[in-house]
Amino acid sequence: MIYPIYVYGMPVLRKVCEDITPDYPGLSKVIENMYATMDHADGVGLAAPQIGKSIRLVVVDLDVLSSDFPEYKGFRKVFINPHIIEFFDEETSTQEEGCLSVPQISESVTRPTKIRVKYQDVDFNEHEEIVEGFLARCMQHEFDHLDGILFVDRISPMRKTMIRGKLSAMLKGKVRTHYKIKTVK
Ligand code: NI
Repeated sequence: MIYPIYVYGMPVLRKVCEDITPDYPGLSKVIENMYATMDHADGVGLAAPQIGKSIRLVVVDLDVLSSDFPEYKGFRKVFINPHIIEFFDEETSTQEEGCLSVPQISESVTRPTKIRVKYQDVDFNEHEEIVEGFLARCMQHEFDHLDGILFVDRISPMRKTMIRGKLSAMLKGKVRTHYKIKTVK
């Protein structure tokens, strides 16, 4: 099934999410549905709070970028209990980001280009990796969701002022998307 995506203003997007265990009820179904929801909305990533669940679970599909980045051919993964354990912040990059929970807004975000992450895969095997490039950006965006942070929290104060009108419209439910959403009002 395809879940509605929770939009800016929904309280669950601001919560710090909990780690899960393999006995989380219906986990494989939740993962399958998150992939379907992400695909339906044409996203490259989706974090559990975006479907109203305050758990540390993220799906990512970078295959759509593989014409520009061949290394992401077939890259479709679930990250369970991910945590960023180190930011190598001597080098940063700035790039436009968007988010299914903040529709119709894209803004430049500056982030470290290299991070060290730990997570569990779909079989709950532990991984610890150093990640760079677009995946590092994508992970920082998605894993931020698990700590209640949205990309618009990381833009310049001036840009934040520029989008204030759009954000307050979202709080009133005045936003159009091609996918199903849940807004505060
Ligand atoms: Ni997002």
